[in-house]
Amino acid sequence: MMNTLVRKLTHDAAENERIYKEGGKILREGGLVAFPTETVYGLGANALDVSAASKIYAAKGRPSDNPLIVHLSRVDDAEKYCVTSDIFYRLAAAFMPGPLTVVMPKRDCVPSTVTGGLDSVAVRIPSNEHARSLIEAAGVPVAAPSANISGRPSPTCAEHVIFDMTGRADMIIDGGDCDIGVESTIVKLSGDEMILLRPGGVTLEMLSAIGDVTLDKAITGSLSEGERPLAPGMKYRHYAPSTRVVMLDGDGADIKKYLWERSKCERVGALLFEDELAYYSELDITLVDLGEHSIEAEAHSLFAKLREIDTYNCDTFYVKVPDKTGIGLAVYNRMLKACGHEVVTL
Ligand code: TXA
Ligand code: MG
Repeated sequence: MMNTLVRKLTHDAAENERIYKEGGKILREGGLVAFPTETVYGLGANALDVSAASKIYAAKGRPSDNPLIVHLSRVDDAEKYCVTSDIFYRLAAAFMPGPLTVVMPKRDCVPSTVTGGLDSVAVRIPSNEHARSLIEAAGVPVAAPSANISGRPSPTCAEHVIFDMTGRADMIIDGGDCDIGVESTIVKLSGDEMILLRPGGVTLEMLSAIGDVTLDKAITGSLSEGERPLAPGMKYRHYAPSTRVVMLDGDGADIKKYLWERSKCERVGALLFEDELAYYSELDITLVDLGEHSIEAEAHSLFAKLREIDTYNCDTFYVKVPDKTGIGLAVYNRMLKACGHEVVTL
């Protein structure tokens, strides 16, 4: 177990600058630093240092064939690590810095440890200014997966990271709550074509305004037995609380009746928006408030709620199928994985 420094960012710019420098030095020297981004917290290491990048897999308990995203502070740096193309620069002009990761052919300087043995590399420039300042201070590209133990929901606040990574990372930088709450959109470029590997804050609708997008089948779970998703990480069970989670597709009355029936044979929990709670309050089940009724708010709090679910001692938690437009596709995709694809149509 290593000693883990925890540093909290504040409104004191000079103090924050010291924290970026301290974290940057640890990264440059081969250590692990967890840091906030606009999507989720990342667990960073120097992407050009094989032994540093290997530490990430050990700290997370992550399979070594699951590649890492390389985080940069500037779009101009992308060319050093991958073979960029016209469509990359069009995406960059529209959405970078921001919650978009682009997969392109890698250059030789990127170790295969980082790319899980693939000949492509994923790059992203976060819009979170603390993340960019840290990468800038490190002076090296930063390989960073989400800062959770493999299989657990991605961390969206420092408390989650402290829970998962104390003793495993050299430093945790606390930058408060992540704005978006689900991981970045991942797009793979192949010629002029975009393949959406993971939906996120840069939505399918936004990408379609730039060019033609095809969806990897893994996103909505239509992958058949033995088929491999293009993003290796999409094949693993994920975001999974110990409590069973099931998605329900139906209208309010059907869902209420179903939950009532289930409550006679198991301890039932339900994740609902605040304005829906009253309707279900007569049932003898555990109701958990998702907050304001909007898909953005649901994206923002989903992972925290998936962590919270295990504290209620329920057998099964039920959650409604979200609206799949905009960032809703990302919420639906993460929920599918959290519930191991158990969806009940009512
Ligand atoms: O928002 C995010 O992207 C966060 C923050 C920290 O930036 N990071 C993140 O990393 O979610 P991670 O490791 O949890 O997810 C990375 C995903 C995995 O599914 C991985 O398989 C895929 O990206 N990936 C990485 N490199 C790839 C490549 N060369 N080809 C295809 N998929 C790749
Ligand atoms: Mg992850």
